[in-house]
Amino acid sequence: MTKKEIEKNYKKLLDQKLNLDLTRGQPSKEQLKLSEPMDQILKNKFNFDGEDLRNYGLIKGLDSTRKLGAILLGINYKNVIANGTSSLNLTSMVIQALFFKGINGEAWKHYKKISFLCPVPGYDRHFSLLEMMGINMINVPLKGDGPDMDYAEKLVKKDKSIKGIICVPKHSNPTGETYSLKVLERLARLPKKASKDFMIFYDNAYCVHDFKKSKKLGNIFNFCKKSNTSNNIVMFASTSKITFAGAGISFLAASEKTLSNFLSFYQNTRVGSDKINQAKHSKFLKDKKSLEKHMDKHSLVLSKKFEIVEKYLSKLPSDMANWTKPTGGYFVSFNSKPGKAKKIYKLCENAGLKLTPVGATFPYGKDPKNQNLRISPTKISNLELKKAMEVFITSVMLAG
Ligand SMILES: Cc1ncc(COP(=O)(O)O)c(C=O)c1O
Repeated sequence: MTKKEIEKNYKKLLDQKLNLDLTRGQPSKEQLKLSEPMDQILKNKFNFDGEDLRNYGLIKGLDSTRKLGAILLGINYKNVIANGTSSLNLTSMVIQALFFKGINGEAWKHYKKISFLCPVPGYDRHFSLLEMMGINMINVPLKGDGPDMDYAEKLVKKDKSIKGIICVPKHSNPTGETYSLKVLERLARLPKKASKDFMIFYDNAYCVHDFKKSKKLGNIFNFCKKSNTSNNIVMFASTSKITFAGAGISFLAASEKTLSNFLSFYQNTRVGSDKINQAKHSKFLKDKKSLEKHMDKHSLVLSKKFEIVEKYLSKLPSDMANWTKPTGGYFVSFNSKPGKAKKIYKLCENAGLKLTPVGATFPYGKDPKNQNLRISPTKISNLELKKAMEVFITSVMLAG
């Protein structure tokens, strides 16, 4: 296409006064509908697992719901807490526990500087949370099968202010990559090389979210046990993208010792857990099979959306950009030529397409190469998505 033709197409899109949004990885209405039968599932019966669901208690959650978390995180249910609706909130609570009380040693409030390794590009809310808590963030590049472990090991050996790594091991946000067994094994050994209260934050937000045949994720907790680092990991998951986003169940899993140290902090912050919502989830997703069946329905909806994205992106000249082809999760990570992302973002914005701000996928909002854009195609209708992708590729071509 000539420059003139691209400009003409862009002008046509401007004239349509569009209002489209690809900013956040949220389920579509069609997906949310899949879980609607869960709402009335208790039929006004409030005893479950031998518990009165209506009263305080069970800070670790109902056993049957902890078992659902155990399926997601590949661990014994006794190592799981089911509480709250947001795994991001549980992540923040663990950091608070580390600061104010300590989990595997001194409370971090006694240290002058705390640093975290941040595989990039990564989840924007992880980075904004760490930044808000005053934690220094250090970029570690992702390599397609997880973080650059040579680099991570080198960093933790020489800088003892590094006390954690925060990662999304499966269908990573936004790159979609799944960590290899080699990376998991080295990640599990990382605390041995680092400061002794080093913590791995293992956010398995997309653990059952395949929409195509996907690489299987190994079990890091087993590697940790072998390396004697099982007290140095906390794992997270939630049903935000399984049932209702923001109205599901969140899970935290860790060794018995880490869990009990965390609980001694956590139990001062709440009196129990929402067992009514937990019982609904346990009845709705009663075993591995019913979970798989439910996720198959999600994958049918999602795979179509990612096909649309790929169809449009593949119209771009091959030297202009590269992008990921995920088999699960909620995102496509798009890299323009260095220096072009902000321009593409602006062109999209002017044409009525909102994208996640450039830099959001990096600590401190700074993409060192100004080239990464996150595409979140899940929430909008397929018709709108086609229009959004038309705006996106036209803007990329115009910027390029
Ligand atoms: C990697 C990752 N972790 C956590 C979350 C938020 O999960 P929750 O709703 O359980 O807080 C998201 C949402 O996009 C995410 O992408």
